[in-house]
Amino acid sequence: MTQAEKIKKLNEIKQEAYLGGGQKRIDAQHKKGKLTARERIELLLDEGSFNETDLFVRHQSYNFDLEEQRFYTDGVITGTGSIDGRTVCVFSQDFTILGGSLAEYHAKKVCKIMDFAMKMGVPVIGINDSGGARIQEGVISLGGYADIFLRNTLLSGVIPQISAIVGPCAGGAVYSPAITDFVFMVDKVSYMFVTGPNVVKTVTHEEVSFDDLGGARTHAVKSGVSHFTADNEAECFQSIRKLVSYIPLNNMDSAPFTEYKGGEKDLEFLNTYLPDNPNKPYDVKEVIEALLDEDTFFEVHKEYAENLVVGFGRIEGRSIGIVANQPLVLAGVLDLNSSIKGARFVRFCDAFNIPLLTIEDVPGFLPGTDQEWRGVIRHGAKLLYAFCEATVPKVTVILRKAYGGAYDVMNSKHVRGDINLAWPSAEIAVMGAQGAAEIIFKKEIDAAEDKVQALKDKVDEFTEKFANPYLAAERGFIDDIIEPKDTRKKLIYYFGIAENKVDSNPKKKHGNIPL
Ligand code: HXC
Repeated sequence: MTQAEKIKKLNEIKQEAYLGGGQKRIDAQHKKGKLTARERIELLLDEGSFNETDLFVRHQSYNFDLEEQRFYTDGVITGTGSIDGRTVCVFSQDFTILGGSLAEYHAKKVCKIMDFAMKMGVPVIGINDSGGARIQEGVISLGGYADIFLRNTLLSGVIPQISAIVGPCAGGAVYSPAITDFVFMVDKVSYMFVTGPNVVKTVTHEEVSFDDLGGARTHAVKSGVSHFTADNEAECFQSIRKLVSYIPLNNMDSAPFTEYKGGEKDLEFLNTYLPDNPNKPYDVKEVIEALLDEDTFFEVHKEYAENLVVGFGRIEGRSIGIVANQPLVLAGVLDLNSSIKGARFVRFCDAFNIPLLTIEDVPGFLPGTDQEWRGVIRHGAKLLYAFCEATVPKVTVILRKAYGGAYDVMNSKHVRGDINLAWPSAEIAVMGAQGAAEIIFKKEIDAAEDKVQALKDKVDEFTEKFANPYLAAERGFIDDIIEPKDTRKKLIYYFGIAENKVDSNPKKKHGNIPL
């Protein structure tokens, strides 16, 4: 064979490989409203940046006529590329090849690209669209999954791991995305469940649709399994690109910095933004947007446990993570789901050197049997643990309520808040004035002729004495009380000087977070 013929042969093999399971199956994929594995990679990465590896891999199985279906790639496309010029590793399951099912060589490829990502210190992004374990390869497929789960765990906290679910994801297969840092789902395209609707019907007699059981909305709103929901695949991959712009490549890298081109922001309106009545709600996202660089707030878990808002943003170009109570929902109380949501986010930021801004207006933990019986103590402790453990720069701004245990939890000075600021409207107390007056002045109120007036007087007395930031500031629990309009300037300054912060935890194998 001449050199030219050898090159021709190479290109023929590649062309065959690029067709995956063939044009008919590609058309079927499109007909379902889904993109192919290669189209997805194109949407995810910078144009022309993809370098494929292991294109020539094929399965070595001869069960059930599999030898007649030895497609190149073995149903998963792997390689490297870039997002905004920064390197990432990718694997994308090809549903046109044996339903994207996972078997020995498919798993080996996924593991190989994960190991490579780890060595290179770059994020790994998995695009999942698979019928699960390749039935013809039996237990070998299960072993392949476990090999991936192990790597997901070992890589956790070393390089960011991101999962896009763009097809079915069932059985034990859901546990790989679940271990990764962020899960993206697409409405009406993605499904995740441990057992599908048919099994559910047999076992529990419940009738449930694919969507209700494990669709994108279910996991965004009810279970919290997914962090981001997109209306279509293009939006999903755009969203992943955006997420990557906020996070470092690995745990030794610092959070990305982009040049801030905006001017000084006039935030005079913040001085009169909070309602005079402390029981009136407001939208904390407006405060977040005001404090951050224009249009940089990128919310995580937007539809889950909305009483706590978490997400990424930029302060004069510096990437930070934000955790904020949301008075618009349940008056901003902390409950079980919001504690879990907050804890996971804080731990991600801490693992990847992303400074944390806590914005606080919290009346406490949600009372009641439902919360207690479902373990609000254990789950609330997760958020406390996460803040205590975090050694990244940590700044807190108390806007209004900081009551009870929730005051301690929300990155108080006592749990190593580096700079804790308060607005003059802050109320830092064991509990709200009404509840406090009812308890400590019970006898006086019961003895009074006009009980309503007596209670009101005592509430006023308590409010005057304790519902302010000055008692906390007297003891240094608050570093400064500032006018709301100056908050952004202070944040720019303090996050700036915290750039080289050094703090550490005692040496240990690992802590025992109350899971
Ligand atoms: C081998 C599979 C496959 C599988 C699908 N295919 N799933 N081949 N192993 N697990 C093949 C089909 O034979 C078909 O081949 C092609 O992929 C497309 O499948 P369709 O059924 O035509 O597609 P669709 O109608 O869209 O349905 C998709 C599906 C369905 C819902 C995923 O295929 C399905 O239910 N598959 C089985 C799912 C399953 O039970 N997996 C095992 C789960 S247990 P052709 O040649 O026609 O293109 C598991 C354990 C993991 O995963 C444990 C980890 C610890």
